[in-house]
Amino acid sequence: MDVRHVPVGQLDVISAKLYGEHGYPHDAWRRLRAESPVTKLAPPGYEPFWAITKHADIIEVSKQPHRFRSAGRFILFPRMTEGAGPDLAEAPPLRMLVNMDPPEHRDYRRLVSAWFTPRAVHKLEARLEEITRDLFDELAGDGGWRELDFVPEVAALQPLRMITEMLGIPREREQWVLKITNQNFGLEDPDFALAGETREQRLAFLTEAAAYINALMGERRKHPTGDVTSVLAHATLDGQPVPAFELFSLYFLIMVAGHDTTRNAISGGLLAFLQHPEQFAKLQKDPSLVGLAADEIVRWTTPVNHFSRTATEDTLLRGQRIAKGDSVALFYASANRDEDVYADPYAFRIERDPNPHLGFGVGEHFCLGAHLARMDLRVFWRQFAARCVALEPAGPHEFLHASFVGGPKRLPIRVKLRPKS
Ligand code: HEM
Repeated sequence: MDVRHVPVGQLDVISAKLYGEHGYPHDAWRRLRAESPVTKLAPPGYEPFWAITKHADIIEVSKQPHRFRSAGRFILFPRMTEGAGPDLAEAPPLRMLVNMDPPEHRDYRRLVSAWFTPRAVHKLEARLEEITRDLFDELAGDGGWRELDFVPEVAALQPLRMITEMLGIPREREQWVLKITNQNFGLEDPDFALAGETREQRLAFLTEAAAYINALMGERRKHPTGDVTSVLAHATLDGQPVPAFELFSLYFLIMVAGHDTTRNAISGGLLAFLQHPEQFAKLQKDPSLVGLAADEIVRWTTPVNHFSRTATEDTLLRGQRIAKGDSVALFYASANRDEDVYADPYAFRIERDPNPHLGFGVGEHFCLGAHLARMDLRVFWRQFAARCVALEPAGPHEFLHASFVGGPKRLPIRVKLRPKS
């Protein structure tokens, strides 16, 4: 899209339609970074917000949770859905880690953090290798051409199977979990939002989801199995059981954040490889690059496009006067193309090192699942690169209509994988 003649204050970096039709608005961000990196925008349908587009400014905001709180408006949605979590406006928004502040945020994060350390995650690696191998064995068939939509049939499944196993949710439920996630993150996408359901049907579905999760936790209270659900079911704060609403919120966040983002990194990564086949060839030739490739894919795709904070006091940021109560939107995808940090930000290079991207955020709310996500990506790409014999697009791809998280929602491909040995 040609944004050269649009005044900076009118650039669109937020409408879901724009993301759905054109992908991430890198041209608009490039202009904002160059001409007005901290800009107040008031697009139609949205409450005003400051667009924060530079790497250094996102770090400055994220590292001061007392001056920029996460509680309140933590994601920018259009007015009609603003404040609406999965419960669509009527119920109070969930109280998750992403919309809590210190000191409470730290107490809640501590309840689950031991499960997501590099050491804890490493113990799951052998199982993840198996999950991934089974998936590719099935896809490979006899080794001939397969035509498929890479998003639901491949990218979604590996991280989904990993997180549901960690939570102890049975495999028969995985499509159900996926539906919850798609509805939650695709709130503005016509394919996912209500997806042919009435509002009542959707609320009934979410009520059923809450009932299932509560029942699973009740079950683990009686018979712990050592999974994350058992840990949460027995969690206490200051010696007291964790309040039910906060416990459900934490569970919900781990369940949905634990795979949607990684799916978008995998599908966006495949798209990047289709557009830069020499990078895929490089990975096939030298699989030891997979760790760096995983981070370059997260930088390049930036599956979590933004989170928002609210100023708790009048403050200055890059010379702009932000008033108490103003929203500041942290556009991680813009920071990940910042010319002050990267000499060649628009090049997709799997051996990029160093790569100080902000794809996992920074500071207080740095992604809890970053080590898990990196492991998912490493294992996925190592196995895929080793087994892929031929790969080509099989039709146009489509992007999710959303500006909070982003990535392809359809990616038709033809692929030949080495069959099970
Ligand atoms: C490529 C995959 C992923 C990306 C790009 C990603 C990105 C992010 C980002 C940018 C944040 C910062 C939120 C903020 O600053 O307010 C975040 C937080 C979080 N992520 Fe991830 N994430 C990924 C995978 C995962 C996985 C696998 C989990 C598994 C549990 C997870 C769980 C969380 C949680 C619980 C938080 C909230 C942390 C807090 O507020 O303290 N994420 N993620």
